[in-house]
Amino acid sequence: MDSIAITGGAALSGEIEIGGAKNACLALMPAALLTAEPLTLTNCPRLADIATMRALLESLGCEIAALREGRALAIAAERIANRTAHYDIVRKMRASILVLGPLLAREGAAVVSLPGGCAIGARPVDLHLSGLEKMGATLALREGYVHAEAPGGLKGARIEFPFVSVGATENLMMAATLAKGTTTLCNAAREPEIVDLARCLRAMGAMIDGAGSETITIEGVDGLHGATHRVIADRIELGTYMIAPAIAGGEVELIGGERALARALIGALEAAGATVEDTPRGLRVSRNGGALRPVHIDTAPYPGFPTDLQAQMMSLMTQAEGDSVIHETIFENRFMHVPELARMGADVAVQGGEARVRGRTPLRGAPVMASDLRASAGLILAALAAEGETVVSRVYHLDRGYERLEAKLAACGARIERIRG
Ligand code: EPU
Repeated sequence: MDSIAITGGAALSGEIEIGGAKNACLALMPAALLTAEPLTLTNCPRLADIATMRALLESLGCEIAALREGRALAIAAERIANRTAHYDIVRKMRASILVLGPLLAREGAAVVSLPGGCAIGARPVDLHLSGLEKMGATLALREGYVHAEAPGGLKGARIEFPFVSVGATENLMMAATLAKGTTTLCNAAREPEIVDLARCLRAMGAMIDGAGSETITIEGVDGLHGATHRVIADRIELGTYMIAPAIAGGEVELIGGERALARALIGALEAAGATVEDTPRGLRVSRNGGALRPVHIDTAPYPGFPTDLQAQMMSLMTQAEGDSVIHETIFENRFMHVPELARMGADVAVQGGEARVRGRTPLRGAPVMASDLRASAGLILAALAAEGETVVSRVYHLDRGYERLEAKLAACGARIERIRG
C-alpha cells in the first residue's frame, strides 16, 4: 500500500491545473445507459473511482473507449447485456447506485446491490428508491439487492425531497428523461454537478428546465441520442488546492478555477485572512506572512460550504489565532480526521456534529492514517504546515479523488513524495 511523505514548512509558489470533476463524471457516465448511441465525455479525471464506474458500466454491457490518454471516454450502451449491478463493484463505490435510474428507464427492469454504510455515515438510498416508486416502479429488496421493475415504462411524477440529496436528484433526473409525462423534482440539489448533468442530458435530447434551482422539471421524451460533453472543473480539488497556500503560506494560481464554483470557500478563506484574486486563467490564492483568523463554518448543500472541504478547512483552522467552530450538517460521522490531526498536535473537541478547533496549535509531523478521501486531503494540508515529516498511510482513499496530488503540490515547492509499497 502506498503512503505519502510530507516534510512541512515550505511556502508554496506556482500553479496547479484543476482537472475535471470526479462527482460530475460519476453521474455523467451512467447517463450513457439512457441511449444506444455513444456518449463521449471529455475532461475526465483519471481516478480510481472513474475506473470503478467504468468497470461497472462494462459489466452491464457498455463498450468504453478511453481516448486522449484517458481524458476522454466514449461510452456506448448499444445493447444492455446485463441489468444487474453486483455487490462486488457497488460496495467499492456508492455512486454505483446512479445506474439504477437510467437502467430502469431504458430497460424497464434493473437489479442493483444496495451500497452498504461507509466511513462518513450510514448514507441510505431511500430517497432514490421512493422517488422511483412514485414514478411507477415496483421495488423489492432481496438478499441485499434492489429488484426494480417498470415493465410499461416510468411515469412522470411530482417528487418532493424532504432534504437535499445530490445523488437522488441525479438518479431521478436521469430516470425522468425517458418517463411518460412531466416529472417535477422539488427541493432538488443545486450543485454545479447537477447543472452539468442536465446540460449533458439536454445535449442528448432531454427536456429539462430549472437545473441549478430548487425545482427541476423534466418532460419525458421517447428516446435520447449520443452527444459529446465536457466535464466541469472539480470544485473540491480546486478548493483543496486553494487552502494549500493559505495554510502553508505563499501563492498558488489555480488554472481553470472559477469563482462561481468556490464562493462559500472564498468567503471563508478571506475571512480567515487569505487573499483570492481572479486571473486570466483562473484564481490566485495567497497568504504572505499575516496571521490567520478563526472562522465559523456550517456545511450545507450548495451554495453552502461543501462538506467535502470540511476536513481541509479544519486543518487550516488549527493554524488560526483563536477558536473556530465547524458544524457538519450533511454526514453524521465526518470527523474521522480529528484523532489523526490530534496526533499532529491539533486541539479539536467534537460534540455531535460540532467541532471546536482551538488555535493556534503548532503542528508536528507524525505517522497518520487516512480514513476517507477528503480526510486524507485534510491530513496532507496539515502536514504542509507541520514541523518535520508526516507520513500519511492508506492513500488509496486519496487516489479515489485526487489525480497526481503529490506531483501537483511538489511542483509548487512542497516537499512531498509518494512511497510505493
Ligand atoms: N441521504 C439519505 N437518503 C438518501 C440519499 C441521501 O438519507 O436516499 C442522506 C445521506 O446519508 C447524507 C445526505 O442525505 O447524509 C446527503 O447525501 P447526498 O445524497 O447529497 O450525497 P451523495 O449523492 O451520496 C454526493 C457526493 C459526495 C458529497 C455529497 C454531499 C458524489 C459521487 N458524491 O454524495 O462526495 O459529499 O454528495 O455533497 O457525487 C466525496 O467526493 O468525497 C463525496 C463523499
